[in-house]
Amino acid sequence: MTDLSAPPAAPATVGFHVNGTPVSVRADHPHLLAALREELDITSPKDGCSPSGQCGCCTVHIDGKAVVSCQQPLSKVAGKHVVTLEGVDAGERAAFADAFAACGGLQCGFCIPGIVMRAKAQIDKKGADLQRDDMARHLGAHLCRCTGYVKVLDAIEAVAKGKEFDPRLSNVIGGAGVKYEAGELALGDRGYVDDMRVPGMLHAALHLTAHTRADIRAIDTTEAAAAPGVHAVLTAADIPGEQLVGIIYKDWPVMIGVGGRTSYAGDVLAIIVAETREQARRAAQLVRVGYGVLPPVTDAVAALELGAPIAVWGTSSNVLSTSEYARGDVDAGLATATHTVHEVFQTQRIEHAFLEPESTLAVPSGAGDERHLDVYSGGQGVWDDRNDIARMLAVPNDQVTVTLVSNGGAFGGKEDMSNQAHAALAAWLLDRPVKCTLSREESLLMHAKRHPIRLEYWAGCDADGKLTALRVRAIGDSGAYASVGMKVLERAAGHASGPYHVPSIDVHATAVRTNNPICGAFRGFGANQAQFAMEGVLDRLAAQVGISGWEIRKRNVIHPGELWGPGQVMDDGCAGAEACLDAVKPLYDAARAAGKAVGLGLGLKNSGLGNGFREVSRAVVRFRDDGRVEVRHGWTEMGQGVHTVALQVAAEELGIDPHRIDVIVDTTRELGFGQTTGSRGTLMAAGAVRDAASAALAAGCLPEVDYVGEHVVDWTQHLGDPEYPNPTIHAAFGYATQMVIVDRETGKVERVVAIHDVGKAINPLLCEGQIEGSVHMGLGYALTEDFPADPETGFPTNMTLRSLGIIRAKDVPAIDVQLVEVPQPRSPYGIKGVGEIGLVPTAPAVAAALHEWDGQWRSVLPMRASAATTDPDD
Ligand code: FES
Ligand code: FES
Repeated sequence: MTDLSAPPAAPATVGFHVNGTPVSVRADHPHLLAALREELDITSPKDGCSPSGQCGCCTVHIDGKAVVSCQQPLSKVAGKHVVTLEGVDAGERAAFADAFAACGGLQCGFCIPGIVMRAKAQIDKKGADLQRDDMARHLGAHLCRCTGYVKVLDAIEAVAKGKEFDPRLSNVIGGAGVKYEAGELALGDRGYVDDMRVPGMLHAALHLTAHTRADIRAIDTTEAAAAPGVHAVLTAADIPGEQLVGIIYKDWPVMIGVGGRTSYAGDVLAIIVAETREQARRAAQLVRVGYGVLPPVTDAVAALELGAPIAVWGTSSNVLSTSEYARGDVDAGLATATHTVHEVFQTQRIEHAFLEPESTLAVPSGAGDERHLDVYSGGQGVWDDRNDIARMLAVPNDQVTVTLVSNGGAFGGKEDMSNQAHAALAAWLLDRPVKCTLSREESLLMHAKRHPIRLEYWAGCDADGKLTALRVRAIGDSGAYASVGMKVLERAAGHASGPYHVPSIDVHATAVRTNNPICGAFRGFGANQAQFAMEGVLDRLAAQVGISGWEIRKRNVIHPGELWGPGQVMDDGCAGAEACLDAVKPLYDAARAAGKAVGLGLGLKNSGLGNGFREVSRAVVRFRDDGRVEVRHGWTEMGQGVHTVALQVAAEELGIDPHRIDVIVDTTRELGFGQTTGSRGTLMAAGAVRDAASAALAAGCLPEVDYVGEHVVDWTQHLGDPEYPNPTIHAAFGYATQMVIVDRETGKVERVVAIHDVGKAINPLLCEGQIEGSVHMGLGYALTEDFPADPETGFPTNMTLRSLGIIRAKDVPAIDVQLVEVPQPRSPYGIKGVGEIGLVPTAPAVAAALHEWDGQWRSVLPMRASAATTDPDD
């Protein structure tokens, strides 16, 4: 029996030194990282995967040795000396910050503080003798999803050799200046949402379903509500307004309540709000749920059969969408072709693996009619999020502000809301600030992935290798809720023929609902899958004709004035495709002459939403009284450098020192119009900032005045719209050729040459970094990455970062980037965008190179279990 008169026992503590200062922390933290971040408020070590120790973001030094702090129980740290980046000597900090900035060694920056601590340990040990290969091996404990490691290693080498830099922002379009805020990012000083703390803040954790398709018969929250530190347990019954949210269709439940039915592994059944994150997470395990389990629908093709069970609660069909178009006589084109190919390609589901798991902080204020909710989010569409949160809370939009906090990577995976609504609901109902940060496992379960697509291709060409006809049938597994799955399959359909002219074409693509993980936006957005197939078809035809991969592409590449697949008459911008192809020719010939196994890929990717959307971007230029100049825009900075673009455009147009400029994402002035997606941020932001700058110049740049600029793209038409036989479905495209060289002895990719037409590179250093990162992601897509779901349960089977198959630093081949600039008509400065095209040609180029190596055609991704595998029979 408990003695209630006895004073409560003082919580046990653990003592050690942090950055030279003795500290004492609660002993119940699950690991050192939690003690550093949650109790000591030391936030340079980031939490990408705790407690699994697989991303390296939390690396610190303990007694001079680099270790991942999420794997250190406090009992092991007692009495030791811990050093974080905050405690590193100021001169050394500056050397790292300058080198990473000057070399372009970071994008979102989330991984970099951990990498810096690892690099410091190696440099402390080896000094200028540190070898690049050696360092790459030590980065095996780290993941970077943005950079491809090339410029990360450049920066570390520079520090090791004592190279000094004077990193400067550029004041011109085309200047290779450093990234905006690069130094702060490198040192972990620029906070992400999970680094934010406000007084009185509570923590929320989520209870997710145990079954992907099950009726919810009961939810018992008693035990969870009684757990230590718990303030509330909320269920769907607590939602005051709409329970369904979604970017395009409102079909994604914020929570499933009693009487409802689950539809995928990421469905949320309860929100637990507690004093600490650990208390909330522990209590989340105490929610008891009564399920009526139903067999899940996990095969997208079978889901289309007559009589197949309906996968998703509240829907009446498993067909999410169809996209189709046709022109010319495809049957005749195939019948009269000299050579034909019929092939089925299957691509895999892929996880974004951005290093920063989703985190949201919601802060209520005011009372009565004056109540307001500020939501801090790293999402890609804060305007959509605000509208859905307001609908869910049953309040007008202007009672909610969603403020964008630059995130630690997204790649499309932060377009849908994940935990924004849950944090918002908890904060609103409890009238307390609430932060909800997903664990890596929850992140893997909840957000949308890259679609696996089955692509059946029939293609024909004449004796010279000129395409005569193409028929495509595509079925994409879109998972449970719509997200933007219909748009991904629409984009796959539109890009089905690649950057080629095909006289007759017939394309049909279906997005299918299943109980597998939701699929939605991911860098490339359907274009990757389709062009893996199309490029594979071209290589097979080239082999039949007896010409090279380069030659068949040259004979079919689209030219200005020609009809592209969906019937669009291509403008002068499309000359970029041939320019990339011509640029690679001497390198291709030389590699073949040297006896290398060489593969080529040629691709295109739209920039902008197109398809009849009216796209609007606004920006504000404001000269402040204190001499600084604000540039405000509405696009998400997620590592891609949109802030730097805005800054360089403003500096050039206004003729001012870029170091006077503050770039601000403004969510109070209605500057944003939709998601930062479709490779359009650079183009749309640049156009709006240029316009705002010219408005300022015309009016004399008066202090404390908002000069507003706008860029509008409103001349596209919808794919397959019978009203437009030749629809301009997209206003701009990026183009790229990549050449992959495989070593004949080892079968290993030894070099990738990436030649990209970006229209105009606002900042070539950042552009190159984007492409290197894309190639790294593309090689993983080609060779090693997968995110399968169990066909019996619909649950993902790879539930750790390590199991995703992301290529580590030591296995990244040499990547040579070459930029081509064929300007895009009607686009500011001729910009085409680079965000997504980067990995479109990679997988097909790898497939072609591997065919050169062993004579095997490959049609299924990923193509091999390991990038380092040398045996073709593996
Ligand atoms: S958070 Fe520690 S290794 Fe990922
Ligand atoms: S810069 Fe490395 S994960 Fe973004």
